[in-house]
Amino acid sequence: MTQETDPKQAAVMPTYGRADIAFVRGKGSWLYTQDDTAYLDCATGIAVNVFGHGDERLLAALHAQADKLWHTSNLYRIGEQEKLAWRLTRHAGLDHAFFCNSGVEANEAAVKMARRFQYRQGFEKRFKIMCAGNAFHGRTLAMLAATDKPLFREGFGPMPEGFVHVPFGNLNHLRDAMDEEVAAIMVEPVQGEGGAIAAPDGYLEGVRKAADDFGALVIADEVQTGMGRTGYLFAYQKAGIQPDIVVLAKGLGGGFPVGSVLARKQIGEAMGPGSHGSTFGGNPLAMAVANAVLDGLEEEGFLADVQRRAAILDEKLAKLAADYPGHILERRGTGFLRGLKLADKVTVGDMTAALRQKQLLVVPAGENVLRLLPPLTITEDEIEQAYHIMDEAFSHLATA
Ligand SMILES: Cc1ncc(COP(=O)(O)O)c(C=O)c1O
Repeated sequence: MTQETDPKQAAVMPTYGRADIAFVRGKGSWLYTQDDTAYLDCATGIAVNVFGHGDERLLAALHAQADKLWHTSNLYRIGEQEKLAWRLTRHAGLDHAFFCNSGVEANEAAVKMARRFQYRQGFEKRFKIMCAGNAFHGRTLAMLAATDKPLFREGFGPMPEGFVHVPFGNLNHLRDAMDEEVAAIMVEPVQGEGGAIAAPDGYLEGVRKAADDFGALVIADEVQTGMGRTGYLFAYQKAGIQPDIVVLAKGLGGGFPVGSVLARKQIGEAMGPGSHGSTFGGNPLAMAVANAVLDGLEEEGFLADVQRRAAILDEKLAKLAADYPGHILERRGTGFLRGLKLADKVTVGDMTAALRQKQLLVVPAGENVLRLLPPLTITEDEIEQAYHIMDEAFSHLATA
């Protein structure tokens, strides 16, 4: 049955262009349909399942917490929340953590924090948020204004004010647009939805300098790049900069919905009781799982091994790009956030569907980019399998 003929499917609001497939269980890097067909998951629910599916440590943490206590709200102290706040802020070189349930919520909170901080510093006119061309920050009204996709805004206006876009990767444009009204520069270290585009060398350092020179904050949107995805716990660490605010979600709960904003002491202090909140944010279940995710990422040598295996994937993508120059224009990204920019004659939607037919799951991204977001635990053998499936699919196109 299709969406038109299946009344239950039609009861779901049609906000997504879904593939006509459902998975009923998962283990490691694999997802299984009802008839037990196995799919190699290089999509991970869009950069979420950092330890793949059914990870024993995450399951144990969730089950243990579920047996004890699910939810109390932030009217009371939550031990696992305090523990996670402490651990994340130590890693990030920051002081306070706020918890919510998704990436877009965390970005909204980050913008509130930047504006409130400036206001408390006596800079009431600093309200602008500098955003990058091609950026994606989420789908609430304010984050639609921050996102550089005019089509996503169609019919939803008026947009909140104060979001200014300058070309990603260009420091001259950024500095030219800075003024005494800017509260913060918001940046994805690697643009995920935009097409797996890593910031050029020196760009994040230049963003930090521009912010310092003009009295603005740096907000690193690490919703997609954070929690080990690039081979670093946070992608900005590779550039050696220190953001004032770091935004996390996706991988943070390894599949359990959770988001977080990490901030410098004075920013956190500008957000007194009543300034922001969330009923579910930081609830014991989410916190227990996120602490277990962090345990795994902190394991000795784990992130170094992510970098090693990600380099193997990159070699395979380089081989594909060399073998199919008529179909692959460029390979992009870093760590396990990789992309192949396809030639116009191949649409990424068709290629994603063709790979799915061969039981490989990937995700389309902007600029006709085929994006690979495998679990951080993907094995060398599974990388080889993914390569062979892509090789077959491109060779089929080349001979068609
Ligand atoms: C960089 C970035 N920020 C924010 C978001 C929004 O996150 P969520 O879908 O959890 O609201 C996304 C989602 O893809 C993202 O990639």
